This record gives sequence, structure tokens and C-alpha cells, in this order.
Amino acid sequence: MADDQVLTDMLTMLDRSPEVLALRVCVIELLIERERYADALAHCGTALGHEPGNAQVLGLMMRCTTALSGSPAAASVPETAAPAPSSAATAQPDFDWAAAEDEVGDIIEPAFVRGVPTEFVTDDDAATVERPALRLADVGGMVEVKRQLELTLLGPLRNPELAKAFGTSARGGLLLYGPPGCGKTFLASAVAGELGAGFYPIEITDILDIYTGASERNVHSIFEMARRNAPCVLFLDEVDALGHKRSRMHASTTMRTVVNQLLTDMDSATHSNEGVFVLGATNHPWDVDVALRRPGRFDRMIFVGLPDLAARTSILHYHLRDRPVAGIDLNTLAADTDGFSGADLAHVCTSATQLALADSMRSGQVRPIGMADVRAALAQIRPSTGAWFESARNVVEFANGDGSYDDLATYLRRRKRR
Ligand SMILES: Nc1ncnc2c1ncn2[C@@H]1O[C@H](COP(=O)(O)OP(=O)(O)OP(=O)(O)O)[C@@H](O)[C@H]1O
Ligand SMILES: [Mg+2]
Repeated sequence: MADDQVLTDMLTMLDRSPEVLALRVCVIELLIERERYADALAHCGTALGHEPGNAQVLGLMMRCTTALSGSPAAASVPETAAPAPSSAATAQPDFDWAAAEDEVGDIIEPAFVRGVPTEFVTDDDAATVERPALRLADVGGMVEVKRQLELTLLGPLRNPELAKAFGTSARGGLLLYGPPGCGKTFLASAVAGELGAGFYPIEITDILDIYTGASERNVHSIFEMARRNAPCVLFLDEVDALGHKRSRMHASTTMRTVVNQLLTDMDSATHSNEGVFVLGATNHPWDVDVALRRPGRFDRMIFVGLPDLAARTSILHYHLRDRPVAGIDLNTLAADTDGFSGADLAHVCTSATQLALADSMRSGQVRPIGMADVRAALAQIRPSTGAWFESARNVVEFANGDGSYDDLATYLRRRKRR
């Protein structure tokens, strides 16, 4: 823990003074110590961008590439949950999902209380809250999603009197839903940044403890922590886990209690308007407990679909920006990746990086990532959201009686026409 605090502090300092090479070298060394080679490598790329040919950095880069190329230790990035393997990931067994996810995670989820165990929830939590610098303007494309966020949440918060005059408010929770890896967490973080509020991302599955009955306490502690640190965005990820587990685990009484506790806390958080904005996310809104969808709770849903052209350009740019690249035509790549999720694009960039690294290692010369690497990566990676869209089509066809999924239906029709 103390060690990680050192790294966190160094990263904070580096954020403030990104041009100080000695600081970056220190961070690289700390990351290597923790076997976070992919992260270390990204920093090597940035350092070489500032000072091409720096011998110390080249040496560190070599250590990372050697570790990544074969050592089993390199693949074991600690405490990182790998997502369910996509067909693409299984088709390419050497791909280090854990390292890639860790890297993606760093963009939006720095050292924070993900799934905070109760003992971590202390008065010191203000020190650990993330204050995202991200703004909606940093989220590429997604014009319709941003318009809806503005209309349902940000606008009313900025103009409370006006909202009141129109009989509306920003109260209640907002549920972002859509296929995996398409920017829900990223958007929630941008909303917090936009409000200048703290950001608490919580995974519902992490607070469920059906064996000891501590789940309600966990839920309550998290809301208490959020209230102490208002204004903040409390981001509840995987909200469907409550509905799911309840039907599957024959533990309906326990789950009912957890849902009830969540409802109580949500009601008081949102009704007394204490500056706790509850955002939820799910890939399967059709599994979300119905009680959670009632007025005042997650009563508004926003569909977050696949990244459009502008979003894909920003995503590709984001994932390549700190890596040594040459001759990459982002617009062409974005045009050729329709149907890819943000996570798929991250996967493509990491695979392309590994190809260039492997080559650099063979020749002993650092060779930048080029279009040929990205094309080769693309040839092996298929969009991972096919199964999600199949379920979504069924829901729209057979379970959209109340029009909850009209947005999704329109989106599916539009994509079909293309
Ligand atoms: N519009 C965008 N602009 C820039 N980057 C984006 C955009 N959308 C997604 N990304 C990138 O794609 C990655 C995946 O997005 P994110 O983790 O937010 O997806 P998600 O919908 O929360 O996925 P999951 O359902 O698996 O939790 C993020 O790391 C982010 O960098
Ligand atoms: Mg997410």
C-alpha cells in the first residue's frame, strides 16, 4: 500500500510536470518493479518523444520489451480483472489482455476505491477521490449522447431555477446502457469532470457479499462516503448484477434487502439533492431489477452505442498518442473500423504496438509503430459486440412493449440500413 502510494504520488507529480525527464524515469522504474511493463513502455514512448535517443530510457524500454516478449511474469499484472475473453482475444493467445486493460483503466480509473471494502471507507476518503480532468469535449463524437446528458442532467444542474419553472430537475439517477467497451465509464467520468465533482466508480458485484450479509452495510457506507465528499458523481457499474444474482442465486431475501438498501440510499441521495449524482451503467438493462427503474431512481436511460467515426478517431488517437508512431493515418483507420468498440480499438492499438516491439527486439533498434502493424493487428481482430447486438435485437423485438428501448430500436434500424 505504501509502495503504491509512492507510485501514485510520483504520477501526480508527473501530471503536473510532464516535461521533467528524471521524474518520468523514476515512474518507469517503479512500474517495472511492479511488473507493469505495458504502462512503463507507454512512459518510455513519451520520454523518447521529448528526448529521442536518450540512452537510459532506451535501456529501460529494452527491459520492458524483453519482459513483455516472453517472461510469464510480464503477463501477470497484479489486481487487474481481465474482461471476458472476446473471440479476438482467444484467437491471439499471446495478447496480454490484463496489461492492456490495466492501461485502459489508468485513463479513467486511477488509484481509487473500486469496490471499496468497508474498512477503506474512512474520513480520509476525500484524499482518494478521483477528480477527473476529463470533459465532455474530450469524448470524441457521440453527439446525441452528449445532447441527452446536457438535457437531462447538466443543463438542469446549471440552471436549477429555469428547470424548476419547466417542472423538471436533475433529480433521480441516470442509467447509461449499451454494448461493452463503448464509453459508458468514460462518459460518467467526463460528467464528473464537467461538474467539477469527485468521481466514485463502484462495481456492484464488488459490494455484494451474500454470505455474511455485509452487502447492505457496504451499500450504505458507500453512499455515506459519497455524501461526505459531495459534490460527487457516484457511478454504479454493472447495475444489472442485482437483478441477475437475485434470480440465479436463490438468495432472494438477501438480494431484496440489498436492493432495498440501495433504493433507500438512492432516494435520500437524490431527493435531498445533497450533491450526490447517481449514474449507473449496464450492458443489460433488461436484467436490472424493476424496482430500480421506478421514478426517482434510474428512471432515465441513455443508450451509448458503438463509437461513431469521430469517436473512433479520438479513441485511436488516445491509445497511440504516447507511443512511438510513424505514418499513421488515423482518419483512414477510423473509417475502416466501423463496428469496433472502444475496447476493441484499444486491443488493436496494443496488438500493433506488440508487433512493432517484437520487430524492434529482433533488430535491436527501436522501430515506430506504422500502418502495416495496425493493419496486421486489424486482420486478426473482429468486433466483439456481436453477441450483445443479438440479445439487443431480441429485446427490441419481444420486450419493448412500453417503449423503454425505442432509442435502441432506432439505432438498430439505422445500422441495418447501412
Ligand atoms: N468517445 C470516446 N472518445 C474517446 N475515447 C473513448 C470514447 N469511447 C470510449 N473510449 C475509450 O474506450 C475505452 C473503453 O470505454 P469504457 O471503459 O468507458 O467502456 P464501457 O462502455 O464502460 O465498457 P464496459 O461495458 O465494458 O464497462 C475507454 O478506455 C476510453 O478510452
Ligand atoms: Mg465500464
